[in-house]
Amino acid sequence: MGLFSPLNPRLAPWPGLRVWVIGASTGIGAATAGALLAAGARVTLSARSSDKLVSVAHGHARARIEALDFTKTDEIRAAWGRILQAWGGCDLVLVVAGTHKQMRAWELTAADADALLAVNLHGPIATVATVVPALLAQGNGAIAIVSSVAGYRGLPKALIYGASKAALINFTEALYFDLHPQGLGVYLINPGFVATPLTAGNDFTMPHLITAEAAALEILRGLERGDFEIHFPRAFTRQLKLLQLLPYRLYFAAVRKATRL
Ligand SMILES: NC(=O)c1ccc[n+]([C@@H]2O[C@H](COP(=O)([O-])OP(=O)(O)OC[C@H]3O[C@@H](n4cnc5c(N)ncnc54)[C@H](OP(=O)(O)O)[C@@H]3O)[C@@H](O)[C@H]2O)c1
Repeated sequence: MGLFSPLNPRLAPWPGLRVWVIGASTGIGAATAGALLAAGARVTLSARSSDKLVSVAHGHARARIEALDFTKTDEIRAAWGRILQAWGGCDLVLVVAGTHKQMRAWELTAADADALLAVNLHGPIATVATVVPALLAQGNGAIAIVSSVAGYRGLPKALIYGASKAALINFTEALYFDLHPQGLGVYLINPGFVATPLTAGNDFTMPHLITAEAAALEILRGLERGDFEIHFPRAFTRQLKLLQLLPYRLYFAAVRKATRL
């Protein structure tokens, strides 16, 4: 592999590609499923709210719906079985689903932490465990996982959310080592702030906030380029990448100053 060649297969052109989007009922997942359908892909839309999936699919001939709760492994397995039966394979499994709850140390409960980790960490891991054998048997195909810039380093108010996303970044990096040599694509998607139901309750000004449609476009372009990490908006993520390099004393001071927390 050359120094400037993409780390992943370039996912394009979209017409004919079969994509499973988990978390397609609202926000970034809904916008990405819509953008993929508009670009000509075949898309299976999953999440728990089947009514919302139906409205995102908008009667599209290339859309399929598989309502599921991806914290339940048997539901992922059943949906995956039906996808393979309907399509005879799959080119991209895009795991977008996640949840968020602001938490500080004095609010932490084991039950809240478990509930968040079930969605943000165990759901994606169970999905990957389910789909990898068939993708390896195909000898091609890809997995893309939406984590967050909140996983780069510890942040106030993101006590368990940040930990779940840091774990997901590490998990996706480790997946790349195993699956890239086998011919599979592994993409890590780290958005900054995106206006969705998930961030609607945030009680602070979100810097560089973008729309879900803009996020979807960034995701499609990143997949088309074959990037490993698809992070956006760049004006924000570049600042966070600099913060990542700071020693703790400077990092803590910079975040305290920016957040006043
Ligand atoms: N918005 C941001 O600023 C931002 C920034 C960085 C990263 N992210 C990440 O981007 C992803 C999407 O977030 P969003 O902002 O678009 O939030 P959102 O609008 O709340 O979307 C979350 C999606 O996940 C689905 N979901 C939640 N629990 C599920 C479960 N148990 N089984 C199946 N589907 C489930 C939801 O559908 P149902 O409720 O219908 O099941 C919905 O489709 C998340 O992983 C989030 O952490 C968001």
